[in-house]
Amino acid sequence: MDLYDAINRRRDTRAEFTGEPVAPDVLERVLSAAHAAPSVGMSQPWDFVLVRDADRLERFHAHVATERDTFAATLSGERAETFSRIKIEGIRESGLGIVVGYDPSRGGPNVLGRHAIADAGLYSVVCAIQNLWLAATAEGLGVGWVSFYREEFLRDLVGMPEGVRPVAWLCVGHVEDLPDVPDLERFGWRHRSPLSSVVHDETF
Ligand SMILES: Cc1cc2nc3c(=O)[nH]c(=O)nc-3n(C[C@H](O)[C@H](O)[C@H](O)COP(=O)(O)O)c2cc1C
Repeated sequence: MDLYDAINRRRDTRAEFTGEPVAPDVLERVLSAAHAAPSVGMSQPWDFVLVRDADRLERFHAHVATERDTFAATLSGERAETFSRIKIEGIRESGLGIVVGYDPSRGGPNVLGRHAIADAGLYSVVCAIQNLWLAATAEGLGVGWVSFYREEFLRDLVGMPEGVRPVAWLCVGHVEDLPDVPDLERFGWRHRSPLSSVVHDETF
């Protein structure tokens, strides 16, 4: 698969997981791709916690369900009805959660390039996640990013130290297929905007 194919094939997956375990060599390649990401001052401020334990997956699933309810309670009318039809995670079905953490202490006290923009560390972690997502796509795997959680809950669940911030729970696994259209588009929640609406010439 060439790079543009992977970019265009990549999809957030929720309902398509088969539960077949990911082979260790495949997982190693996907994690290596994440670890090859650019990072501010070469700080490499990411950690990856691999979660496969059924009880831990179940506990995270239950927490996400309560957060789904919290969000649903803010909606009414057509939004509430549309959201009720959208699946927002495949935590148990994927069989593998990768919790991505951000450690701002990585790289020492003088991270080159982060003195003016503290968020540059977080941006680096997101670059690693995107590398992981594209590599997984090239390997024929699905990835679903779950953000319906409280950071303290997830930190406790996987024993992440206080100074490390959980940035994402990624459901990773084999899938029946990768959908052509994002779920949010298919269910009428939102549509991808045209490129021309976000490109600005010379000034904003
Ligand atoms: C930071 C971030 C958080 C997300 N959180 C969730 C989530 O909690 N549940 C979910 O179903 N999708 C989540 N998504 C996936 C988006 O809904 C998805 O990327 C978007 O609808 C576009 O679809 P595509 O990724 O298939 O192109 C998240 C994506 C990002 C980048």
